[in-house]
Amino acid sequence: MDKKILITGGTGYIGSHTAVELIHQGYEVIIVDDLSNSERRTIESIEKITGKKPEFHQFDLRDFSSLAALFNENKFDGIIHFAAKKAVGESVENPMLYYDVNLNSMLNLLKLMELHNVSNLVFSSSCTVYGQPSQLPVTEDTPFSLAESPYGHTKQIGEDILHHTTRTNRQLQALSLRYFNPVGAHPSALIGELPVGVPANLVSFITQTAAGLRAKLKVYGNDYDTPDGTAIRDYIHVVDLAKAHVRAIERMLNHEQKKSHEYFNIGTGKGSSVLEVIQAFEKINHIKVPYEVVDRRAGDIVKIYADTTRANHELNWNAQLNLDDMMKSAWTWQKTLIT
Ligand code: NAD
Ligand code: WQD
Repeated sequence: MDKKILITGGTGYIGSHTAVELIHQGYEVIIVDDLSNSERRTIESIEKITGKKPEFHQFDLRDFSSLAALFNENKFDGIIHFAAKKAVGESVENPMLYYDVNLNSMLNLLKLMELHNVSNLVFSSSCTVYGQPSQLPVTEDTPFSLAESPYGHTKQIGEDILHHTTRTNRQLQALSLRYFNPVGAHPSALIGELPVGVPANLVSFITQTAAGLRAKLKVYGNDYDTPDGTAIRDYIHVVDLAKAHVRAIERMLNHEQKKSHEYFNIGTGKGSSVLEVIQAFEKINHIKVPYEVVDRRAGDIVKIYADTTRANHELNWNAQLNLDDMMKSAWTWQKTLIT
């Protein structure tokens, strides 16, 4: 029997790519998503890529009885918990919504995992837990800074909840993946990111500008203490990131965990500046991205990139794809959205 994995938020950007990689590796995938930030047609796209249609359930994870019914019908070998709200600015405007959705979804899952003796949970954490790091690259032992936003705070609290619950519920194992900056899309161009409204993230804004949907990209500051003055991030291809989840599930199923709650940085280990990203996009896609330099964006981190040694050695995972692959696939995906 194929191992059965529940993916929450599985029609979303990272969840859909992970569903594809899991199905490729022979797992049975069941998806729950309320479609608050994704579309049902993603299920058909996953089927087109893999030849298998994942079972899909549309409900909000805060709806305990729907989730309980799903646990009654299935014995899950593992759960990957992506479902969350993720817009930093919105979380500052409406903190209660973020604490409610992100934390209650996780608590409902944990309650049912305990009730049904389900052991393995992979949690979507974020490099945002580190805040403005004082040392680079950041290792997993870099302490958390005060959260810059309620969104970031929900990721810190999420990890803390896993730390404490895995201590008392001996059956439970958890693994948090701290994603750096996921970008790009599946090479099939059948799945990718679907930003709602004006994108806050750099690469989505670049692709929409190149497509003529936005007049000009604003580069937020070129007077930072970096080689070209623009801020530095560790961009990671979403397909590489998806594969890290497969390794995480394998680690748990093979009982390779060394602690009941483990956490890993998932990035490339390489920092790229805003201008380097724009240049890479323009060069690989032979298209210009009009931009202007404006003031710094409030709350922005100056530079951050990952030390990925732990993921390389313990998870046996390495990022394979480079910035050119990310920019190329992001543009190919964007072009499918224009037509
Ligand atoms: P996404 O919005 O594309 O996917 C999240 C999915 O969860 C969406 O399909 C949405 O409809 C669903 N969802 C939200 N709330 C739900 C609820 N209460 N019940 C059921 N479904 C719900 O986002 P993504 O970029 O794929 O991010 C996935 C996870 O990774 C999130 O937890 C996010 O915080 C985390 N993360 C994302 C990034 C990033 O830059 N994309 C970086 C670090 C961490
Ligand atoms: C990258 C760089 C901007 C847009 C956010 C969340 C974080 C995490 C990933 C989930 C920065 C610059 C951007 C634009 C620009 N998500 N930029 N013009 O800020 O690293 O992180 O997404 O956990 O929590 O905060 O990503 O893509 O918004 O910005 O110059 O129009 O691009 O200033 O230096 P960020 P980003």
